[in-house]
Amino acid sequence: MSVAKKQFKRVTVKSLVEMKRQNEKISMLTAYDYTTARIVDDAGTDVILVGDSASNVMAGHETTLPITLDQMIYHASSVIRAIKRSLIVVDLPFGSYQSDPKEALRSAIRIMKESGAHAVKMEGGNEIKESIKRTLKAGIPVMGHLGLTPQSIYKFGTYTVRAKEEAEAIKLKEDALLLEKLGCFAIVLEKVPAKLAAEVAKSLTIPIIGIGAGNGVDGQVLVITDMLGMDKSFSPRFLRRYADLHTIMSEAIGNYNNDVKSGDFPNENEQY
Ligand code: KIV
Repeated sequence: MSVAKKQFKRVTVKSLVEMKRQNEKISMLTAYDYTTARIVDDAGTDVILVGDSASNVMAGHETTLPITLDQMIYHASSVIRAIKRSLIVVDLPFGSYQSDPKEALRSAIRIMKESGAHAVKMEGGNEIKESIKRTLKAGIPVMGHLGLTPQSIYKFGTYTVRAKEEAEAIKLKEDALLLEKLGCFAIVLEKVPAKLAAEVAKSLTIPIIGIGAGNGVDGQVLVITDMLGMDKSFSPRFLRRYADLHTIMSEAIGNYNNDVKSGDFPNENEQY
């Protein structure tokens, strides 16, 4: 049995560090609604991220930038009502923490108070140091996020792999060390070379959760709608699809439509 299942009735930020210490990989998935979160939690997922990817996959925006703090709180509250064991981490949305540490703290407090979440995640390193410090000081656990940080997409210009050049790799390593020193309990590393991610994971005691960062890290995260194959048009190299829900749902909905049109549904047993 896994360390997490045996030892932790509820996964906490402390359990994640312990899992790293005991070489147990951490599983993390996104969820944004009650019904999906119940399945993700029941299946034994260690961490559920209420990601600002909700902006893309729930609301259909092109980027994560438009989602608001109120909308993140709505998604997080729905997820929280569903869970028994997973640790729930919520993204602070774009514009809710970058301008000053007091605003970051106010945003984080709203998420914790109004949704009941267990921790928040912020994108960036040295440039948001004061916001992270202020939030941690109030007793709110913070997960970092380095590498490809989608809230900065207009600075990067593309969603390609980050930190391939030495200067950016050095900055990433410095930022990861800084986040650990500040007191972050884990870091998401998105779309960076596997060798660099493994080096960062090895050099820190807090867990590194990768997405497109190879297998040398302490855990993995995927966006739930991507790994379930709900969107056929999104197929980056790092994505493994564990189901083809797009086909399953399309067939089921098509069959329903046909049965309604033909008068086959409902039959005698499906009425009162
Ligand atoms: O918002 C999100 O889903 C994320 C993951 C890609 C890590 O930040």
